[in-house]
Amino acid sequence: MEKVVTNPAIVVEELCVEFSGKTVLENVSLTILPAELHVIIGPSGSGKSTLLRAINRLNEFFPNCRTSGLVRIRLDGHLVDIYARDAPPLPELRRRVAMVFQTPAVLPFSIEKNMTMPLKVTLGLRGGELRERMEWALRQVGLWDEVEARLLDEATTLSGGQQQRLCLARALALGPQVLLVDEPTASLDFRATETIEQLLVDLKDRYTIIAVSHSLSQARRLADRLWVLREGRVMQQMNRRQLQDAALFQEIIDNIF
Ligand SMILES: Nc1ncnc2c1ncn2[C@@H]1O[C@H](COP(=O)(O)OP(=O)(O)OP(=O)(O)O)[C@@H](O)[C@H]1O
Ligand SMILES: [Mg+2]
Repeated sequence: MEKVVTNPAIVVEELCVEFSGKTVLENVSLTILPAELHVIIGPSGSGKSTLLRAINRLNEFFPNCRTSGLVRIRLDGHLVDIYARDAPPLPELRRRVAMVFQTPAVLPFSIEKNMTMPLKVTLGLRGGELRERMEWALRQVGLWDEVEARLLDEATTLSGGQQQRLCLARALALGPQVLLVDEPTASLDFRATETIEQLLVDLKDRYTIIAVSHSLSQARRLADRLWVLREGRVMQQMNRRQLQDAALFQEIIDNIF
């Protein structure tokens, strides 16, 4: 049975995004439920990253971008219109609606400083509290045992999968409510991919997660709900049951790609 939507975590209505007058997302509407892993797939250029960036207003970094429509996100229990005049300030919004990028964006500092700097700057943490929060977040992503003895090494000396988990830990440390994850395993090998996938599954009860994937098989493994984008429009959504129906899945995919 389909879940009845009584407490959506994110509601996107009639979202349109243009870059320099060219429409990239057209009337996109989505309802994202809490405690479900939502996966977005679609051909290259279909607007997946743009959609994620619309959900924490990162497109505003591009001066040629125009956004219209409604994005409401449940923050501390209330659905907040994030584009409204009285929306939370952008740094606060992006702390709570955190984004992890396809290429791990570690800073050119030590592993420890990558974790502690945002915590000092954003939350003003110091001393024991700072260390505890860092350790907690690194444990959440299964990285603590791997880095405990080398916290002062440059973060860039970590493997790709470790860097991806470090970025996720850095986001989790700041106490987000939503995680936007753009192709988190794009450049990872089989083992590292498995680790990240398991991590997303483990985190989904506590965070609202939207992940973009380039892999149909990964989408099928992970998604409680799948959204298929094509040329800036939502062409299809599928729930877990439909995803497990191999023939139906194949038919839909053949129609889209
Ligand atoms: N800052 C920008 N300025 C101009 N055009 C942009 C900008 N960002 C994205 N676009 C355009 O918007 C469209 C969608 O891009 P987007 O990055 O969202 O696609 P995507 O589905 O994530 O693709 P991929 O799978 O390759 O990552 C593309 O045509 C892209 O060229
Ligand atoms: Mg993309």
